[in-house]
Amino acid sequence: MQTIEIMEKTFDSESNDIALYIAMSKKAEEEGQNEIAAYLFNIAMDEASHAAKFAALLGMIKDTKTNLLNMLAGEVQAEKDKSHASEVAFAEGNDAAFQFFEKSMKDETRHKEEIKKILSKLQAKD
Ligand SMILES: [Fe+2]
Ligand SMILES: [Fe+2]
Repeated sequence: MQTIEIMEKTFDSESNDIALYIAMSKKAEEEGQNEIAAYLFNIAMDEASHAAKFAALLGMIKDTKTNLLNMLAGEVQAEKDKSHASEVAFAEGNDAAFQFFEKSMKDETRHKEEIKKILSKLQAKD
């Protein structure tokens, strides 16, 4: 039981680190530190593979159809959450957050639509 809890926490912290390393890599790139940017990006990919392995060990990964159905539900929720977040950011006058919630909401919509397409292709084969 303790191992499972530690793996869950590890999954969360590895997942956090992916985003941080990618953001820091981007920053290094903006500063013209391309070698450091590439190194930080490689670390992010290592953290992603650590997180992915813990996801698998924790039983979060099923067969492809089930995985896609699970992620579709997540994308639908993410789209709704971003829509609400963009309204909150707009009301509070946080323009940078508003703009990015709007942009990322469109990404979630695209993810949702693409996953739906893949699922219907898979279902057509059944
Ligand atoms: Fe790691
Ligand atoms: Fe998404």
